[in-house]
Amino acid sequence: MGTLNRFADAWRLRDGGVAVIRPATPADAQAIQALVRSLTPASRYSRFFSGVQELSPEWLERFSRAQPRQDVSLLATVLREGREVLVGMAQYAADPYPERCDFAVLVADEWQGHGIGRRLLHNLECLARAAGIERIEGEVLTHNSSMLGLAHAMGYEARRHPESALFLHVARSLAEPARGCSPLAKFAKGELADAAAATA
Ligand SMILES: CC(C)(COP(=O)(O)OP(=O)(O)OC[C@H]1O[C@@H](n2cnc3c(N)ncnc32)[C@H](O)[C@@H]1OP(=O)(O)O)[C@@H](O)C(=O)NCCC(=O)NCCS
Repeated sequence: MGTLNRFADAWRLRDGGVAVIRPATPADAQAIQALVRSLTPASRYSRFFSGVQELSPEWLERFSRAQPRQDVSLLATVLREGREVLVGMAQYAADPYPERCDFAVLVADEWQGHGIGRRLLHNLECLARAAGIERIEGEVLTHNSSMLGLAHAMGYEARRHPESALFLHVARSLAEPARGCSPLAKFAKGELADAAAATA
């Protein structure tokens, strides 16, 4: 995890193990690809809306970085026998910045139902808000009851998709003050400060 330690959210799972959420880096690309390859067809389709077996080089690059004003990828890991194992990830893409971003979340099949998806999405919202983004939105398959349940539990409004009956559009404003954000949200400030210093 290296220097990203200070931008992490760590907590204890019900089984006693420790889980950590942190920004993705290019060094994570292989683990991200392995996570995508390991998905069941149902989870794969729910996340990517296709049977894609692995990420293209372009998508892999995008999922391996965190640039708060553009796109961010957060990773959830657990420690197993002293090794960091990737069990989930969440992304947003700001388009256009700062009005809105699109999000998506994914938890490895064997780790679903442990609170990791909720924590990933909460950290993603905190980071987006800290980066100045005003609204977070997502497309969810109409039959995806776990994602719709999570979105509902987190205060998202669900509407009919304007173009397809297969999807619902979920969205929430990020205008209200941040609550319960982990140190990870400070990553946005640090990154933005670094960018400002580089252009000064
Ligand atoms: C959707 C997904 C991200 C949820 O992550 P998760 O770690 O399993 O969810 P959590 O354990 O954090 O659950 C958080 C809340 O979501 C809701 N939820 C989770 N699973 C649910 C289910 N099967 N049915 C209804 N609600 C559910 C509940 O409100 C739950 O809160 P609770 O445990 O207090 O009841 C995960 O199931 C997943 O990766 N699915 C495949 C990919 C996908 O669908 N991604 C979404 C694309 S936008």
